[in-house]
Amino acid sequence: MPITLSVIKADIGGYVGHSSMHPNIIARAIQLLDEQKNKGTIVDFHVTHCGDDLELIISHRLGNDSSEIHKLAWDVFVECTNVAKELKLYGAGQDLLSDAFSGNVKGMGPGCAEMTFEERKSEPIIVFAADKTSPGAWNYPLFKMFADPFNTIGLVIDPTMHDGFVFEVHDVFNDKNARLNTPEEMYDLLCLIGASEHYIIKNVYKKDGTIAATTSTQRVNLIAGRYVGKDDPVMIVRCQSGLPAVGEVLEPFSLPYMVTGWMRGSHWGPFMPVSVNDANPTRFDGPPRVIALGFQLTNGMLIGPRDMFADPSYDHVRQKANEIADYIRRHGPFEPQRLPLAEMEYTTLPQVLNKLKDRFK
Ligand code: 13P
Ligand code: 13P
Ligand code: MG
Ligand code: MG
Repeated sequence: MPITLSVIKADIGGYVGHSSMHPNIIARAIQLLDEQKNKGTIVDFHVTHCGDDLELIISHRLGNDSSEIHKLAWDVFVECTNVAKELKLYGAGQDLLSDAFSGNVKGMGPGCAEMTFEERKSEPIIVFAADKTSPGAWNYPLFKMFADPFNTIGLVIDPTMHDGFVFEVHDVFNDKNARLNTPEEMYDLLCLIGASEHYIIKNVYKKDGTIAATTSTQRVNLIAGRYVGKDDPVMIVRCQSGLPAVGEVLEPFSLPYMVTGWMRGSHWGPFMPVSVNDANPTRFDGPPRVIALGFQLTNGMLIGPRDMFADPSYDHVRQKANEIADYIRRHGPFEPQRLPLAEMEYTTLPQVLNKLKDRFK
């Protein structure tokens, strides 16, 4: 019987400011999901946070887009928001855009990555979660993992990977998607996904259709019709045996590549891979963070997590991220530290232009 892994997340209130998660919120979420596990609705779960985002990692047998699972996650967010409101945490309920649940969390604020598959003889999985950035942040590492032979030697020397992969790319502004094959269409793919605020990788498949990776592509800002938050995305990647090895999946994060988000969702900054303990973006509300939790999925049980970036081999990446942060911060309100006008989460431009309109001659 296929197993479904659902990673559903929301910012339901920050502690302190937007920097982290209050322990009472995590405790409440664990308590509520434990009840569901005892009832048999879900098989297993793990609750964590990246910065101010609450991450619910749930295994179950109800398939993708199950209204029962989405409702259950929504109810956890609502209950946790009540805790956040009692504590007057910052932006309590920030990502719950509606008072009434509509059957699926997609489009309602929370982010969601789900995949359904037959569990293999051994099923190593990595769940990634980010804070202070947006879903386009996964484009670069997904390309590296599944299409770059300088990252993933398996593409060259493993007969079960040598055929390449299929990338499903979403045009988030026009609500359309296309599938591109690599290595054949690698340059076309890069032409799109290099514009990572516009074309976002949703899924990666093996050429036989097996799901390999999935991301949350909800753009909260567009869904709400206005900019209400960088979406702080999540991603699930299956590893080994015809898919990239665990080390190949983690290798792209050896570069603290630049992502959009950071302070007020309006800046470029280096993506810093950290342990869960260090996933508390503080300096200028950043720099943007990514965590990686490894699990062995065993008869639906989440054996783990292993905190994959709690590893000294990422120390120099974090060091480099701090150096880049120093450098780019010095630009202050100037691009390219500040995002271009269209991508900023905050702007005073209309008011400023209005005030100055008679002075432009
Ligand atoms: P093992 O031989 O330890 O299974 O490792 C294989 C592999 O894929 C390492 O990346
Ligand atoms: P979050 O999207 O993580 O809530 O951060 C918002 C912000 O403005 C940080 O400066
Ligand atoms: Mg927040
Ligand atoms: Mg956040």
